[in-house]
Amino acid sequence: MTRRPWVIVPAAGSGQRMQADRPKQYLPLAGSHVLALTIERLLCLQPQALVLVLAADDPYRYHDAAAPLIYAQGGAERCHSVWAGLQALSGHAQDDDIVLVHDAARPCVRVRDLIALWQIVGDEPNGALLAAPVRDTMKKADADGHITATVSRERLWHALTPQGFRYADLCAVLEQTLTAGQLPGDEASAFEWLGRAPRLLAGAPDNIKITYPEDHALAAAILRAQQENGA
Ligand code: CTP
Ligand code: MG
Repeated sequence: MTRRPWVIVPAAGSGQRMQADRPKQYLPLAGSHVLALTIERLLCLQPQALVLVLAADDPYRYHDAAAPLIYAQGGAERCHSVWAGLQALSGHAQDDDIVLVHDAARPCVRVRDLIALWQIVGDEPNGALLAAPVRDTMKKADADGHITATVSRERLWHALTPQGFRYADLCAVLEQTLTAGQLPGDEASAFEWLGRAPRLLAGAPDNIKITYPEDHALAAAILRAQQENGA
């Protein structure tokens, strides 16, 4: 029988691009706040535990007595925070267990996409991640914003989260890339750097990462629409 997954939520960023009065994961949203909503969705997977990676100086320090939470302290970059989350699972997770890494700033992830990813990830030798096919015509620009090329959108995807891997495999891959001085922006990039090819699984494109101020209202609208139509 497959063991339930472990979930790591990197939530140690300071949200520079959001320019808010607090880290964006703590901004109020839909009668709650971003991180609480994200965790609520992830708990639908019934994880063995959810590793919450928080900044050392986090003044809010999310707490939920009803959730199986393990705390870890984040690092300078997202990859360091994920690494800290993996370390916190040492002695808990078995080598072959699945670990799903999901950004705290993606509260709109749909439960059916979480389940779909969970259902395929164990069969993928290089792990898998939610992703959305690119819809627009893509342009490459020079430093002044003038077009230098049109990039075919065929087979071009937006990488989303969760990204899921076997515990020992992700540990080994991330350790190798960090030791080599790489700072992978997501877990899939670390695998790619080693010549491995994680599987892209099409998920709903409304799984946005709250990044810029305008994304806050967009996330609120997405959550409202999901509530009306079912997420
Ligand atoms: N994150 C983290 N540790 C870091 C940096 C980021 O755990 N050192 C987390 C963020 O909290 C977020 C996710 O990684 O949930 C995605 O990162 P991003 O959207 O870049 O968030 P921030 O780094 O907070 O934002 P910014 O880059 O605008 O400062
Ligand atoms: Mg960042």
